[in-house]
Amino acid sequence: MLFFHALPLQLVLTFLLNDAFLSSGAYAAPSPNKPIRMMQLLHSDKSFKNATELGQWAKSQRLALEYKYGIQSPGVQTRAEGSNLVTNQNLDSSYFGSLTIGTPPVSYNVVLDTGSSDLWMASVGSSSRVPSGVTLYDRQASSTYQDSNATFLIHYGMGYAEGTLGTDVVEMAGFEVQNQAFGLVTDVSQNMLESPVSGLLGLAFQNIATSGAMPFWETLVNSPNTLDSPVMAFQLSRYINGTGAKSSEPGGVFTIGALNSSLYTGDVEYYNIPDGQVGYWILEITSMNAGATQINIPSPSLSRAAIDTGTTLVGGPKSLVSEIYATIPGSAPGTGDYSGYYTYPCAANLTVSLGFGGSSTLWPISPADFRLAQLSDETCLGAFFDLDSTGSWPSWIVGDTFLKNVYSVFRANPPSVGFANLSPLALSMNGIGGSLPTPTIASSPIITVTASTSASDDGSSRVSSNTIGRYFGFSISTLAWTLALCVGVVLS
Ligand SMILES: *[C@@H]1O[C@H](CO)[C@@H](O)[C@H](O)[C@H]1NC(C)=O
Ligand SMILES: *[C@@H]1O[C@H](CO)[C@@H](O)[C@H](O)[C@H]1NC(C)=O
Ligand SMILES: *[C@@H]1O[C@H](CO)[C@@H](O)[C@H](O)[C@H]1NC(C)=O
Ligand SMILES: *[C@@H]1O[C@H](CO)[C@@H](O)[C@H](O)[C@H]1NC(C)=O
Ligand SMILES: *[C@@H]1O[C@H](CO)[C@@H](O)[C@H](O)[C@H]1NC(C)=O
Repeated sequence: MLFFHALPLQLVLTFLLNDAFLSSGAYAAPSPNKPIRMMQLLHSDKSFKNATELGQWAKSQRLALEYKYGIQSPGVQTRAEGSNLVTNQNLDSSYFGSLTIGTPPVSYNVVLDTGSSDLWMASVGSSSRVPSGVTLYDRQASSTYQDSNATFLIHYGMGYAEGTLGTDVVEMAGFEVQNQAFGLVTDVSQNMLESPVSGLLGLAFQNIATSGAMPFWETLVNSPNTLDSPVMAFQLSRYINGTGAKSSEPGGVFTIGALNSSLYTGDVEYYNIPDGQVGYWILEITSMNAGATQINIPSPSLSRAAIDTGTTLVGGPKSLVSEIYATIPGSAPGTGDYSGYYTYPCAANLTVSLGFGGSSTLWPISPADFRLAQLSDETCLGAFFDLDSTGSWPSWIVGDTFLKNVYSVFRANPPSVGFANLSPLALSMNGIGGSLPTPTIASSPIITVTASTSASDDGSSRVSSNTIGRYFGFSISTLAWTLALCVGVVLS
């Protein structure tokens, strides 16, 4: 399905060379940052080092019970927000965060994907297609694991992940879901995973979950007195035009339950999901500029866009994508392996801007993000590609090429996606020399909730969603894997 597949080795190597991937240290072992643990999850079998630790444990137990039985002591704030530091993998190809699963909890890296709705983890017993160095989930090492006695199979455009379904305690950014359903994946297609990423956390809605299970974030949203606000927000860093970037760099901040006001300026402008029809995070692109040229979106069906942190680039209808490139003298559709992509003279420096939901606000994409790769001294490859979509699929997939340029907010109620301008602090995290975010200890309490549905009691909406998920695997960056593969080739 995806054209990412077609990126030839030679192109990718050029890309790497042009981005100074060969400078010293460029191939250093990935060193993912650790998650911000807003509060440490402590289990009863843990011994306490000192009074502070014990105190925190006691507080968490109290707050958890107060929540469970609906007691709210005066002055006790049981709602919360939490953050997770994100890692930028392979020059903005992919963004991953961290969560813990099991008892005792084990930490894993997962791609943060607003374009799908399943959580899955590579698990013990995996095929050789799961690369070494990936931390594998071990059901036998967790006292809280429960087998769902069901198989799990999710198809993406570039491959699949397959295994069984189970439930366990999942914790992220200080929030814990006690019986989160997830796929224990033992087989993946080639290059589906790249160390140090163990799996994927789907952040779209339950009705497109292949497992049928309620996604982690949606359980938090649906649990009373859990989140300060029914939102998830992303600030994503840019390294694509830097020099000397490593395969893992600081990726930004993922916040659950609130916005981080230090990462954006002005107001967040929200756009409703059309007709409240949740599934993917869909918005309507209602205006578009390529430089000074307006690109007219001729029909509502050509305006629907999935806002997808798990996709690297921007895909759209062939007719409109070709109009964008037509504004650049000397641009040309790619042929052969480049089919679906376009080349253009690097000097063009094009800014494409997107407007959503009928608003007059236009959100510009930096020319640095539009320029996916430099093929030669004068020829560049654009980040907008033809998306051959039909039927109920969204016409556009708006991925990180766009999302790096804004603070993005995914709001469950009313169902909407909002954007704001990045703050100087957020912008300072772009590129080499950007400051590495430092973990902080937060004051918010542990919130523990129980999922209301499991994989086995899902309704009929699951069937149609399977169809989309099965044949339309745009939500994972195959570019990341292509790059990873080629780094391996260069090294060996
Ligand atoms: C208690 O232990 C934790 C980690 O185990 C440490 O971060 C903290 O500084 C300690 N506090 C005191 C007062 O020693
Ligand atoms: C698991 O599913 C199989 C096939 O449906 C069934 O035969 C078996 O009894 C199930 N086991 C449990 C423990 O539910
Ligand atoms: C990368 O692109 C951004 C946005 O256009 C720009 O602000 C920054 O200066 C560029 N960095 C380099 C090293 O060219
Ligand atoms: C907001 O983000 C900044 C920058 O990463 C971080 O230092 C700060 O702790 C965050 N605030 C909250 C409340 O998470
Ligand atoms: C590209 O265009 C932007 C404005 O859209 C301008 O600020 C920048 O200097 C230009 N860069 C080059 C290399 O022409």
